[in-house]
Amino acid sequence: MHHIEVLQARYHELRRRNNLNIDIQDLAYHTMLADATCVATIDHRRGRYQNAYTFFVRSMAIREKDPSTTAPELADAYSAIGLALFGLFQSCEVIVLVDKALAVAYAAPPELHHTFNIGRYLRNRSRPRAALRDFSGAKQDVEDADAFQTRIYGANSHFHGETAYILGKIAIEEGDLDEADRQLQRAYDLQYPGKPTHQSVASALYHQARAQKYTEQALLYLQQALSITQFNESRRGDQGESARVKRKIADIWERQGRLADAATYRAAALREKAELERTGLHPKAPDAEQEWDCFSDLKGDHAPAINQIEYHAYLQRVNGYVPWMREQGIHVASFKGLTPAFRAPEGPLRQKDDEGENVLDRIAGHHGTTAAVVLLAWLIQRQIVAVTMTTKPERLDEYAQALKVTLTPDEFDEITTVGATYHFRMAWGERFADDDRS
Ligand SMILES: NC(=O)c1ccc[n+]([C@@H]2O[C@H](COP(=O)([O-])OP(=O)(O)OC[C@H]3O[C@@H](n4cnc5c(N)ncnc54)[C@H](OP(=O)(O)O)[C@@H]3O)[C@@H](O)[C@H]2O)c1
Repeated sequence: MHHIEVLQARYHELRRRNNLNIDIQDLAYHTMLADATCVATIDHRRGRYQNAYTFFVRSMAIREKDPSTTAPELADAYSAIGLALFGLFQSCEVIVLVDKALAVAYAAPPELHHTFNIGRYLRNRSRPRAALRDFSGAKQDVEDADAFQTRIYGANSHFHGETAYILGKIAIEEGDLDEADRQLQRAYDLQYPGKPTHQSVASALYHQARAQKYTEQALLYLQQALSITQFNESRRGDQGESARVKRKIADIWERQGRLADAATYRAAALREKAELERTGLHPKAPDAEQEWDCFSDLKGDHAPAINQIEYHAYLQRVNGYVPWMREQGIHVASFKGLTPAFRAPEGPLRQKDDEGENVLDRIAGHHGTTAAVVLLAWLIQRQIVAVTMTTKPERLDEYAQALKVTLTPDEFDEITTVGATYHFRMAWGERFADDDRS
């Protein structure tokens, strides 16, 4: 909570000082832009869609004034505003904004399409289309999103889990409950690994239960969902999610004649809903059923800002894991980033070519630096926060060169593609299959 309030206060202070007559050379300006986007992302994740919307619009206003804004940044900004509006149930407006994002992306040459989050924009358009009951349009967006995602992240990424989730919800609306069950199971299977307590897993289970109507299986799904949402209550404020699940469990227990248990759960759900509504932070839902969908994360008072994971050229975390974290507003940092230089001498970046040189030393030679610096620069250029260490003070000066070295696009690609031909994991190997590169 604290860091969000600090950010908001700083944003307001800067805004007052600058009054939007911004000098883009001014560091304060960049801080303000980063803060507006960051505040909006955090608000969005906490279910405060109105706040998120306001801040995304401000961040957009700053971006539009900044000539250095890139096309992908502009498209992302349109799509983010759209997603906040979706939380406010304004589906028609969402489509207008996401169309703008897609127009910016498709105006770029095809060879640059991979630099845009086209999969995300299409998912963000399929949701409001489904809400407006344009199911064929929504499914077309999902199909296009899947084609893009498969090209960029491979066949079974986290993002394919998100599209399966969208298709599952559409199938429920269409009354095709077998298809709903199939899609939601796929959503669960793709989203569970690596993040078994994530909200998306609980939501897949919740809707899977809806597809099962009032069966014993539905009850099992809901109880599994409840164990996740309750686990998240203290750390993420998922009380609203728990209330939604409890209400559904109460419906089933009522049918089964467990009237006392049903009454207890229903009362708890209603009490929680009333309390959340009193905060005045939830959006106005178009109907009584959707009122229960308004409370995701509403009591959450902290969200992870950064995740330090093993990351280097031999472990580039496939299946879209890194872009997925970024979509959640989580920065990604590395550990064991220097592994290709010192821990895997058998790896291809260290193999000698005909002239007796290896890739890392050759690139380091071009820049008059060391293999360690090249790997740190590669991480920085991948927008991974490069965390390293040393027991030797003199190495600190060496590491610091990474801030001045910029790899050429060819050098950057060579490390990426040659590195990706080899798999090496230093940490937590016992928790992953030998060939698991996620
Ligand atoms: N979040 C987590 O789960 C997690 C897990 C592991 C590590 N970490 C943290 O991540 C940070 C980075 O640590 P890391 O081990 O992952 O870093 P790293 O950047 O992969 O490796 C740093 C090591 O590389 C060695 N090195 C540098 N140049 C060398 C050279 N020319 N020849 C031989 N060795 C050389 C350094 O040894 P010298 O000491 O001899 O300079 C240093 O110990 C640390 O703060 C660590 O605590 C976090």
